[in-house]
Amino acid sequence: MEFAKPNSIIIKGMGYYVPEKVVTNDDIAQIVDTSDAWIYERSGIRRRHVSEGESASDMAVKSARAALEEANLSASDIDLVIVTTVTPDMMFPSTACLVQAKLGIRNNIPCFDLEAACTGFVYGMEVATSMMQSGKYKNALVISSERLYPILNPTDRSTCFLFGDGSGAAVLSCSDEPGVGIIGNVLGADGAATAVLKIPAGGSLMPTTEQTVKDGLHYLQMDGREIFKNAVRIMQEKALDVLDLCGVKAEDISLLIPHQANIRIIETVAKRLKIPSQKVYVNIEEYGNTSSASIPIALSQALKSGRIHSGDYVLLVAFGAGLTWGATLIKWQ
Ligand code: ACO
Repeated sequence: MEFAKPNSIIIKGMGYYVPEKVVTNDDIAQIVDTSDAWIYERSGIRRRHVSEGESASDMAVKSARAALEEANLSASDIDLVIVTTVTPDMMFPSTACLVQAKLGIRNNIPCFDLEAACTGFVYGMEVATSMMQSGKYKNALVISSERLYPILNPTDRSTCFLFGDGSGAAVLSCSDEPGVGIIGNVLGADGAATAVLKIPAGGSLMPTTEQTVKDGLHYLQMDGREIFKNAVRIMQEKALDVLDLCGVKAEDISLLIPHQANIRIIETVAKRLKIPSQKVYVNIEEYGNTSSASIPIALSQALKSGRIHSGDYVLLVAFGAGLTWGATLIKWQ
């Protein structure tokens, strides 16, 4: 079906879901040689929520239902489903198709997964927005859902404390009001840096064998220092790029929602952008890094706690494996 081309694409509803089970730093210190104090000081993380059997699609369905409720829409109003994840339920079919079936969304619409690691939600917003600007899709679900805990090597103390599970979802809708909603988006990638964060086995390059499992190659591997350095530089640059693109100054930002990877990365980026800490949304202490779900979880919480008002500029900045990066500027409707 073709609709009139919209003047704007707005976020009509947000929702999030995190599993109940909590793993504390002290729990992790029972397994590897570390401490709550070391983890908190180096990362800002105290706890993470961990799925007890719920898959990415199970969590996606819960966050999507919450977003639909907030948008006052039902599954039958949705024309497009994008799920961003590095932990799909299966290699195929896509998690988006599983979510479509579980939510009872009609079957003559596109549903697909998008993989851009921690930048997934920002990529997903750009893809959905561009498709919706064609006038073919009125309401889209962009859902980010990650079950990361099982891909962490429980005996690798340099990675096992960083990540947690969860899901965040946005309902994007066309609006006749010009100049509101998602007003700018910049994306990028550097495929020369694929080695700094990866899972080596389980794909077509190195299919799973008894040996790959014995060698722990199905677990996430990361060069933490290299990521830290790149994340700080690129997140600052991309935030400035999207502000430039939209003719908005950093001082006009009401709320910065950065990818929740490490409190020291977040604080350094905010400082370089001269955005004061009270305008930066941080929840890493409770959830750790939930990859692509981290920004929509934070955005959903920020809305629920009344931190976003009509006319506010909200800046999302993300960075992840690939490398990938992106920044989105929203003028709240
Ligand atoms: N407990 C105690 N000591 C530890 C631990 C631990 N859990 N992990 C590492 N160490 C030790 C190291 O062995 C090292 O010891 P050494 O000096 O004797 O060799 C020492 O602590 C310092 O290690 P570094 O790796 O230099 O520690 P750093 O200050 O860089 O902090 C961290 C590590 C927290 C992983 C940091 O590099 C980081 O956050 N990097 C970014 C990673 C990230 O955000 N990844 C998320 C995925 S990508 C994304 O989402 C954008």
